[in-house]
Amino acid sequence: MRPEQENWILIGMMGTGKSTVAELLARKTGRKLVDLDAEIVNEAGCPIADIFEQQGEAAFRALESSVLDRILQNQQVVLATGGGAVLKPENCSLMRDKGWVIALKADAAAILKRVGEDSGRPLLAGGAQERIIRLLEERKHAYDFAHCTVDTNGLEPEQVAEQILMHQRV
Ligand code: S3P
Repeated sequence: MRPEQENWILIGMMGTGKSTVAELLARKTGRKLVDLDAEIVNEAGCPIADIFEQQGEAAFRALESSVLDRILQNQQVVLATGGGAVLKPENCSLMRDKGWVIALKADAAAILKRVGEDSGRPLLAGGAQERIIRLLEERKHAYDFAHCTVDTNGLEPEQVAEQILMHQRV
């Protein structure tokens, strides 16, 4: 696949700015913007919090994998994934195969500032700060398979997008 046809896939913890940066990158590169969580909500016909509550996390993860697989049959998309899309090794292999994988990193304080006590994120319900710290520890190496990593601490989304464009594969 030629680099210009390639998908760009953003991974990283919740609140690292994947969706905002993906939007900027799509605009700057003329790629189509796709948001994995939004596609899942579309497919399920209900919010993510409801899928977790009514069907459980395993059902959400199964849906997440199948929607990811469908999206990555395309070319030239900028895809913002959900923070847990990397939990299945087969998803990680698929992402590396089907595109250029960019990991966004941020520390707990920056993540908490971005997500707040957002009830739309079931994994943070009932204590965002402790849950973020725990998830960061549990997922310490989960994003290491990316082709490139950008530390977003102290950066505006526009600066993150510029850094990615400077790293871009040619
Ligand atoms: C999740 C992250 C969320 C969403 C779901 C689970 C996770 O996406 O997919 O709530 O396991 O980290 P964002 O990373 O866009 O918040």
